[in-house]
Amino acid sequence: MPARERLILALDVNDPVHALNIVDRFSEWVTTFKVGLELFTTRGPDIVKKIHDRCKKVFLDLKFHDIPNTVVKASIVVTRLGVFMFNLHASGGFEMMRLTSETVVETCLKENLPRPKIIAVTVLTSISQDEFKKDMGYQHGIRTHVKHLSAMAHRAGLDGVVASGHEVSAIRNSIGSGFIIVTPGIRPSWSPPDDQKRTMTPKEALRNGADYLVVGRAVLSQTDPEKAIELILLEMLSS
Ligand code: C5P
Repeated sequence: MPARERLILALDVNDPVHALNIVDRFSEWVTTFKVGLELFTTRGPDIVKKIHDRCKKVFLDLKFHDIPNTVVKASIVVTRLGVFMFNLHASGGFEMMRLTSETVVETCLKENLPRPKIIAVTVLTSISQDEFKKDMGYQHGIRTHVKHLSAMAHRAGLDGVVASGHEVSAIRNSIGSGFIIVTPGIRPSWSPPDDQKRTMTPKEALRNGADYLVVGRAVLSQTDPEKAIELILLEMLSS
């Protein structure tokens, strides 16, 4: 897959005009844009349609985490929006993931819709090993937990997971190729971590086996965002 198809730019803004300006401005370099909670809560499905009108793909990052019936119904609505990819929390459980995957496939066949990739969020990249144990009360480490959740998502029929660069090779080694790994928390050596704790450079994340890299502030918070995206793509090409 070419580097520019592996890069997903996060539209973490709340103004739809601003978001669409970003889409137009980076259209030369980016195929897929991520619509997250802030933008979707402000503008809803309309922003997804406007990005599709520009012939770009959408990763709808709403991280569903609820009982199976609720997630399944929301996932059908998302599927009808024609997004390329959406996600839910693996910690919502096996049955929630299995039923969602099964129902989305059935809906796509029945309504002749393109099948979105369904991705499970494992452990957020903003959580450190220390917080995971002390605050969240787990006895085992993050990598063990991410491996466990990834195996469950795979068994449930999902297409892949969201995981930090630090867990990518463990997932690859245990599940193998063909299972999509989307990696946020991407920070080139020249950008600050912000609130992210388990960060990794674009080159390292790809070398470890990530399929897609989600990049937000490392581009959009820079004084020269075009230069930043070019540097990131160059780094990805050299991985
Ligand atoms: O600005 P930055 O590159 O840190 O943004 C990362 C994006 O990826 C944010 O939109 C965030 O919501 C999302 N994300 C994440 N960690 C996850 C899943 C999604 O940072 N585990």
